[in-house]
Amino acid sequence: MASNQSVWRKKPIAAYEADLQKSELKRVLTRWGLVSLGIGAIIGGGIFTLTGIAAHDHAGPALALSFIIAGVGCLFASLCYAEFASVLPVEGSAYAYAYGTVGELFAWFIGWNLILEYMMGATTVAVAWSGYFNKLLHLFGLHIPDYLTNDPVTHGGPAFNLLAFFITWVITAILIKGIKEAASTNNVIVVLKVAVVLFVIIAGAFFVDTANWTPFIPNEVPALDEAGNPTGAMNFGVGGVLTAATIVFFAYIGFDAVSTQAGEAINPKKDVPFAIIASLIICTILYIAVSLVLTGMVPYTELDLKAPVASAFDGAGITWAVYLITIAATAGLMSVMLVMMLGQTRIFLGMSKDGLLPHGMFGTLHSKFKTPYRSTILVGFIISVVAALTPINNVSEMCSMGTLLAFAMVCIAVLVLRVKQPHLERPYKTPFIYLVAPLGAGFNFFLMSYVREHTWYAFLIWGAIGILVYFLYSRRNSNLNAIK
Ligand code: ALA
Repeated sequence: MASNQSVWRKKPIAAYEADLQKSELKRVLTRWGLVSLGIGAIIGGGIFTLTGIAAHDHAGPALALSFIIAGVGCLFASLCYAEFASVLPVEGSAYAYAYGTVGELFAWFIGWNLILEYMMGATTVAVAWSGYFNKLLHLFGLHIPDYLTNDPVTHGGPAFNLLAFFITWVITAILIKGIKEAASTNNVIVVLKVAVVLFVIIAGAFFVDTANWTPFIPNEVPALDEAGNPTGAMNFGVGGVLTAATIVFFAYIGFDAVSTQAGEAINPKKDVPFAIIASLIICTILYIAVSLVLTGMVPYTELDLKAPVASAFDGAGITWAVYLITIAATAGLMSVMLVMMLGQTRIFLGMSKDGLLPHGMFGTLHSKFKTPYRSTILVGFIISVVAALTPINNVSEMCSMGTLLAFAMVCIAVLVLRVKQPHLERPYKTPFIYLVAPLGAGFNFFLMSYVREHTWYAFLIWGAIGILVYFLYSRRNSNLNAIK
């Protein structure tokens, strides 16, 4: 057993039970409320935006295969998440699971990476939202200057993405007011979003020309840079399908956000695992159908890169659908932000309860709303400023990187717990865990190897800062120091 000063010291499972008893958060979320939160977090920029570039540049009509590959990988991770969520239904998500099983430093490091997933995820979506909202304004004949809808790098001069900044503060205000309000706002948006996705699938099916699906996997061709010179990489072929899978992986991020809401669920041990798996399966089916329709409606070489779904209907001559899809995407992206920012503050709450982050900033709940308002404001501030000043691809890659590592760690940790504590009560058990967990970890590590080199450097620097904070603050202030 690890000594009490070891970086591998673990939070006793009994301490989680005590946390659950003490939780001041209101238990208002039902089973389908949780599924709705999951779908709210999942369907967003991935399907509405990234499908364009993934099909146009990498997979062609085989985009559906890329969605299947990414979806299967996420399914392995979700099955592991679900077991953990049933054993430890607390708000810290993967961080909390690792703390009880693998050890403090490992858990801290996961928490540190979840900041990338949730904060950089919300930042990415804030930037995507500004793009869609701007498109909506254009549809109504309104124009905002470019320097107020772009970051300085994209604009090529002084600029501040005011729209991204603005939407972040709107979401922050909703979150401070409370989870119940946030959940009902989310439910309305989810209904709209799913309705529009179904509309795309059903109405779009009438415009599918099966000739557009041939060849299903286009032959491999050398990738070219903007100047038309070969980059050395290849597009399309089987490799292209895999690259597209790493891009559309972003579309699945969010199913795990359900696990951060365990503290507010009415029946977390049963409903959280159910919601994690159900929301992922529902979205996977929708995604596969949308990608088949999209690549069937428009030859992949003609797909629009910024708003592929809306533009496909424009091309088919159904202009009113462009309005509908743009409005739904604008609202839909807001619900992704809502759940991501909610998840971030709940992870901070979990870490501060364990003493690894300052309680005053991250653990204090508002006397009336019972929400962690200080950390919500801090998270809102960071996201709004980063979103206003940073190009979207830089933040989205950091988001995927942090998420992939967190998913892989969860797969490993759930296996470790199964081996070390086989008799622990598990309301939900991962099926075929000795196969599913290694496959889940392997798949996520494999996708990490596809991320661009400079993102790896940024990721390593982020990790080094995390280790420093752990040794300078968290280790010294951990509640486990008090256990003799
Ligand atoms: N899955 C979320 C999206 O696609 C992050 O926007």
